[in-house]
Amino acid sequence: MLLDPCFLALYAGLALGVLGTVVALEAAQPYIGRVPPIPSVPRVRRAVLGALRRHWCSTPAGARVWELGSGWGGLALAIARDFPEAHVVGVECRTLPYWVSRARLILAHALGRCRNLSFIREDFRALELAPCAAAVGFLLPDVLRGLPGRLPKGCVLVSAVFPVPGLVPLDTHTGPTLRTYAYAYRIGSPLEQAAQPPVPV
Ligand SMILES: C[S@@+](CC[C@H](N)C(=O)[O-])C[C@H]1O[C@@H](n2cnc3c(N)ncnc32)[C@H](O)[C@@H]1O
Repeated sequence: MLLDPCFLALYAGLALGVLGTVVALEAAQPYIGRVPPIPSVPRVRRAVLGALRRHWCSTPAGARVWELGSGWGGLALAIARDFPEAHVVGVECRTLPYWVSRARLILAHALGRCRNLSFIREDFRALELAPCAAAVGFLLPDVLRGLPGRLPKGCVLVSAVFPVPGLVPLDTHTGPTLRTYAYAYRIGSPLEQAAQPPVPV
């Protein structure tokens, strides 16, 4: 009876209804800076983790690392695994990716992993970001533009794929195809000062 064409049509209709609701809910989300929830690929994640490792200074245990625009949670989970001494906070403004990242975190906790990670559903532009030791983002340049001024001096900023407009990176991390996958900055470094436009006299 369960394979009856009427039941099959009913199930298909229900599945389409659920899918349609999810898509409609997603479409109704504000497109902040039109950044889609595209997850970073493994080679970009490796470059971001490498950049963090290279510039991470020994900071007090529990130092905060932001993953700004954490999407489905993959990059934040990877950072939390690689930096157990840090407290990683993923911030995501869109409902569906946020709940998926929460579900992934519950699973990780059940496996005894990533106790140093949490997710919040917020627009990070409305958050007080200091104090923090590092911030990571895979965001478009327009969204990145206002970020450095909101981070404390000495904070490491790692941007995946896109450079932060107006800042000179400490270094860049390229992949095998020589594409730049990560840009590392330190807020308030002399390099950053050099990137500022000259003050007119
Ligand atoms: C390209 S995805 C990156 C996802 C994840 N960081 C990764 O690397 O797999 C960018 C995410 O940033 C989120 N986003 C963009 N602007 C945001 C804002 N102002 N506050 C919170 N999240 C934001 C988008 O919703 C999207 O999910």
